[in-house]
Amino acid sequence: MASNTGKKKKTVNRKQTGNTVSKKTAEETPGIDALLELKEKISGLTETNRQLKRKIFDLYTIVEISRNFNAVLDYEALLETFILTSIAQVGATKAVLFLKDDTESKYFKLAISKGFIENQLDEMYFHENTELMKQVTKLNRPESVGELILNMATSHEKKFLKFFEPGLFVPLIYQSRLSGVFIIADKISSHDFQLDDIEFLSILGSQISVAIENARLYKAEKMATNQLMETQEKLINSERLAALGEMSAKVAHEINNPLGIIKNYILLLKRSIENKVDADKYATIVGQEIDRIAQIVRELLDFNRPIGIDFRIIDVVDVLDDVLQFMNRQLDKQKIKIYKNYPETTFPIYGSPEGLKQVFMNLIFNAIDAMPDGGKLKIEISKVDDKVKIDCCDSGPGIPDEIVQRIFEPFFTTKDPGKGTGLGLSVCYGIIKRHKGSIRYNNSENEGGCFEIMLPIENEKK
Ligand SMILES: Nc1ncnc2c1ncn2[C@@H]1O[C@H](COP(=O)(O)OP(=O)(O)O)[C@@H](O)[C@H]1O
Ligand SMILES: [Mg+2]
Repeated sequence: MASNTGKKKKTVNRKQTGNTVSKKTAEETPGIDALLELKEKISGLTETNRQLKRKIFDLYTIVEISRNFNAVLDYEALLETFILTSIAQVGATKAVLFLKDDTESKYFKLAISKGFIENQLDEMYFHENTELMKQVTKLNRPESVGELILNMATSHEKKFLKFFEPGLFVPLIYQSRLSGVFIIADKISSHDFQLDDIEFLSILGSQISVAIENARLYKAEKMATNQLMETQEKLINSERLAALGEMSAKVAHEINNPLGIIKNYILLLKRSIENKVDADKYATIVGQEIDRIAQIVRELLDFNRPIGIDFRIIDVVDVLDDVLQFMNRQLDKQKIKIYKNYPETTFPIYGSPEGLKQVFMNLIFNAIDAMPDGGKLKIEISKVDDKVKIDCCDSGPGIPDEIVQRIFEPFFTTKDPGKGTGLGLSVCYGIIKRHKGSIRYNNSENEGGCFEIMLPIENEKK
């Protein structure tokens, strides 16, 4: 600008020296020139102002768009937003985005397109190491498709590029590597792409490369999580099957033992039919073993019995007292003294009285087994937060640490065959679970075995 003005001034000076006659004209000339100059300056400034305004507008748009991009984590939705935004902002009719299937892949394939006839681009893909791709990566800015055809492309690439003419080729670079190719074509105004468009798409391109990479990572993460959940589910199912298999084997074993004994004694019984004393002894054993099978079958049925029909609002104290009354004579006989510590107020729970009776009976039977020479059984009820806690502690030897984690397993028992089936605590566990409660074992120093049951208190206002 400054040198231009200088030149004009010089021209004016030459006119002045060359023609002294027309002094008046010579004096007016600088005035008109200055005016013209001013007009030129103003129009220049107006243009700069217009461009600045457009730039501010574009930058504002880009900030808004980037904010949107970063908020969209869904991969497909992001590509859709990007392609539609670009078309709308630049005023084009067609656009296409080529991306790699994953970061390991060497090929760019169609990811999304707008404005092309369906299936037209389906077969198009290209390798990341072609000369054209290397060049545009180096270029690192949008370039017109026409320019690429003229100067960079091989004949094969020319054929590919011609499809998008007149268009703009935007390399998407992420961490100095070509991560995708965006081509936008056919401006509505049928003008060429302007510098503004190029700048706009250049910034947008670098924004979208990062956003795509984020969305891709998110998608991969989500897929991995889903896969993990699927595997876990399969594992749980196969564990369930394995547990069922193990249980069947144990049931078969448990029933086989007494059956074997029965068979032997029936043979002995046949042989000793003359000897009344032996026959009597053997018949008694057969009877006992049949009882054992019956007990196993009964406990197995309990184990699988769907409780729930008799669920209602009940008071734990009532259930416990029923059980204690029922077992009173046996506890007395075993010289076991009961200590009860119940609260003044009662806490209603939603439960099955039959189910809970079975739980308390199993715990008391175990306590009796643990104290063959008599002892103490302490039953305490209290409120902890929104739960009612029932502690059932005996003065027996407690449970050795090494077996504590197995006591709730079906068929786990330390008792002699005929004395225990190992189903009692697993039945308790199942019933308490169905009450949305918990049962656990604590070894206490001054007492023996201590079981703690928690059951949710029913809010009567519900
Ligand atoms: N109060 C207790 N004191 C000591 N050991 C116990 C007590 N309750 C349970 N156990 C242990 O847990 C095992 C499993 O109990 P359970 O499932 O009721 O089966 P079972 O009574 O038929 O053996 C018992 O064999 C015993 O070793
Ligand atoms: Mg038991």
